[in-house]
Amino acid sequence: MFFMRLVSPLLCFVLLLAVSCRRTPSNERPKDPHSYSNPELVRVRHVDLDLEVLFEQKALQGTAVLALERAKDGNGAPLILDTRDLRIESVEGSRDGTNWSPAKFEVGATDPILGAPLTIHLPAGGKHVRIRYMTSPNATALQWLEPAQTAGKKLPFLFTQSQAIHARSWIPLQDSPGVRVTYSARIRVAKGLRAVMSAEHVETGIEGEFRFRMAQPIPSYLIALAVGDLAFRPLGSRTGVYAEPSVVDAAAREFEDTEKMMQAAEELYGPYRWGRYDLLILPPSFPYGGMENPRLTFTSPTVIAGDKSLVSLVAHELAHSWSGNLVTNATWDHFWLNEGFTVYVEQRIIEKIYGKERAEMEAVLATESLKREMERLEPRDQALQLDLRGRDPDAGSTDVAYVKGALFLRTIERASGRTAFDAFLRSYFDRFAFRSVTTKDFLDYLAKDLKTNVPVEVWVHKPGLPSGAALPVSDALAKVSDLAGQWAQGTIPSSSIPYAKWSTQERLHFLQALPADPGGRRMHALDQAFGITKSGNAEVLQQWLLMSIRNGYAPASAKLEEFLMSVGRMRYIRPLYEELAKTPEGMEQGRAIFVKARAGYHPIATATIETALRRPNR
Ligand code: BES
Ligand code: ZN
Repeated sequence: MFFMRLVSPLLCFVLLLAVSCRRTPSNERPKDPHSYSNPELVRVRHVDLDLEVLFEQKALQGTAVLALERAKDGNGAPLILDTRDLRIESVEGSRDGTNWSPAKFEVGATDPILGAPLTIHLPAGGKHVRIRYMTSPNATALQWLEPAQTAGKKLPFLFTQSQAIHARSWIPLQDSPGVRVTYSARIRVAKGLRAVMSAEHVETGIEGEFRFRMAQPIPSYLIALAVGDLAFRPLGSRTGVYAEPSVVDAAAREFEDTEKMMQAAEELYGPYRWGRYDLLILPPSFPYGGMENPRLTFTSPTVIAGDKSLVSLVAHELAHSWSGNLVTNATWDHFWLNEGFTVYVEQRIIEKIYGKERAEMEAVLATESLKREMERLEPRDQALQLDLRGRDPDAGSTDVAYVKGALFLRTIERASGRTAFDAFLRSYFDRFAFRSVTTKDFLDYLAKDLKTNVPVEVWVHKPGLPSGAALPVSDALAKVSDLAGQWAQGTIPSSSIPYAKWSTQERLHFLQALPADPGGRRMHALDQAFGITKSGNAEVLQQWLLMSIRNGYAPASAKLEEFLMSVGRMRYIRPLYEELAKTPEGMEQGRAIFVKARAGYHPIATATIETALRRPNR
């Protein structure tokens, strides 16, 4: 007791000192609440990786050499890096990058969200640091797949997912989107495997050794690596697709419009600045639909529908080459600057290539989804700019950032006229190219460059959808809603519904426009007429499975299990488990499936599903 009484004021004092020091701004950049690093004093400029991929041990092992730059008042300041579950084997410092000597370092306490700081004390003038380390089999960025989890079933597969704050689980670095680095890498893999990264491939001619170079400065969450049995098909002069050999031809057909999408984006927002744009198709356990790793978008195979109906995902990830990768949110509080802009640009690309009707249908579907999500979000999470201190940055990854963000830009576009807004956006991307920005940076630039009467502060800081939002309208979807209503009331039979002729977007809207509980018998009628349980379209199937759980539609039960056993895309599986968790029988089924499926999920997905199944949902 006495000891505690003595220690706690002391502890408070030390903590207070630490906090107040860290808050002291030495320039106008915001402190990133999700990084321990101190880039205002010492900044990492280049990361050079030399890693061996050890499938047996589920680990990466090797070195990271960081090149540093010190601020004028940063002399003597230690270098603080972010890490999570890394085994640090040695740390050395150097003035010239050639002669190395051991450096003092310590790994601080682990925070469940942030991981642990690695503090390195370098001798005066130390400009380089070399860290020898090994990743943990539980590294949150890494998914190690057994051969059985791949399409080919013969070779293992590894991929990284660094966004938002997982890069620190495979590289010790300043893991903040406000810090940009160039990078280079040497990756060694076993025979028969190919390594790819979000960077330019540099030929070595050495078997099992792959070298890469990213010459443009990027934030850490865009550093990415994948290793597997990968084939390649060119799509155009600057575009191509990597995938397992049995998938690569279907992928090349599905994504044949990629080059056209690039041209459309360039016409709107200026030259593509990253050289090549390739797609990598991952095994189905990939936890996202897509990830905009520069030069190499990572893509879920669930996007391959056979009819290009889901390719707006490619437009989206490609759009990030401007919004996000070129102009980056400075911290995750400003995530909407990445995703809202990207959804807006995505819709413009879709409009240019597939026409206004398709773009508007997709925009309506997204807006409907936003409205549904907004109903269950706390008011503080309905604003565009967030305060995520003390929270996992993934908490900010909702339709608010994506869809409300895009509607905000649409509203500005309507107020200023398309020509003026296009010119504005293009100049915004130029002005802030290769920089990390805050919401205020955007609003200041907007106020200077484009005067409108859009209530920007309301959009950015207030919950809900502001009145006067430029909402999308689709005549085609309005007709679908009508039919759904009539069918639900029993005024028209299933045979009057032109489901077979409908696009994926119309089908999705039809399912979503039905009442939540048409009942198992009516679901059966729909299934008989349209064979929805057998749909090869992941988006339609997921919606149908959700309805099947809600309505206790047993014939879809086997399909549900098959889907949850093979697909790891969180946006699909999380709502399914959450729906199951609403009833005791569903919870039992969900837990039974999860026990079998979890080994195939990504660590980020596993954590999310565990939460969904922890207690009854409502
Ligand atoms: N950058 C995101 C994925 C992401 C967001 C990963 C936050 C980790 C944290 C990517 O661009 C994205 O938005 N993907 C979407 C698809 C898109 C078409 C809306 C997805 O994966 O569903
Ligand atoms: Zn995105």
